[in-house]
Amino acid sequence: MRSVICETQDELAIVVAELWCRWFNDVQERPQPFSVALAGGSTPRSLYQQLATEPYRQRLNWDRHRLFFGDERSVAPDHEQSNYRMAKDALLDPVHIAPTHVFRMQADSPDIDQAAREYQSLLEKNVPLHDGIPQLDLVLLGMGDDGHTASLFPDTGVLKETQRLVAPVYVEKLNTWRMTLTYPVINNASHVVIMVCGENKAERIRDIFQDQSSEVYPIQGVKPQGELYWCLDMAAARYL
Ligand code: 6PG
Repeated sequence: MRSVICETQDELAIVVAELWCRWFNDVQERPQPFSVALAGGSTPRSLYQQLATEPYRQRLNWDRHRLFFGDERSVAPDHEQSNYRMAKDALLDPVHIAPTHVFRMQADSPDIDQAAREYQSLLEKNVPLHDGIPQLDLVLLGMGDDGHTASLFPDTGVLKETQRLVAPVYVEKLNTWRMTLTYPVINNASHVVIMVCGENKAERIRDIFQDQSSEVYPIQGVKPQGELYWCLDMAAARYL
């Protein structure tokens, strides 16, 4: 596990963009595209905007990418709360990535359970398997101030899911359904980057970094076989 503390969120975006470019270049010789699960929420927006501008726009060949999502809210794709819409506005449209290279989680489906099963099939068909599980090249994650990541929220049954790679989850405190990747597929990734910004996350970051062996918070269940990077801004890292 490596951690990087950046002065600002914009600097953090550049650090993560450079990591993405390095890992993308490392596999340029192989035929399979570079597969990424995008994070939702607001933190990743500056990263996506960086990737859509020079030099990253040119350094990353979007035809050799397949983009997935770590989680999605049960809203339409054009809803202001949609993770897909945030990524579309900040990255997908500006880089003109082919729609066939982007796989939206249809968490707005009337049958979210079936939609989750279909999304798992998409992952299994479009991402090379390792130990029988799709091995994403890169999973981007954020963290809520309650220590959730993707839609792996405290006190939800999905935290104990060991079979399904994509699952629906009812989040009591938000009174809403979500769709999320589960630990088995997140922890099978080659690289995982957790991006955390803001003072409101500082106490949680302190708790997590003070006792890295505990699993009090859902994000502490992220233990990939591959590389794990924590990328924090100074505000989130103020107690470290
Ligand atoms: C979501 C995200 C979620 C997010 C955290 C942090 O759909 O909300 O996937 O896990 O990463 O809640 O959100 P912010 O980046 O907005 O603080």
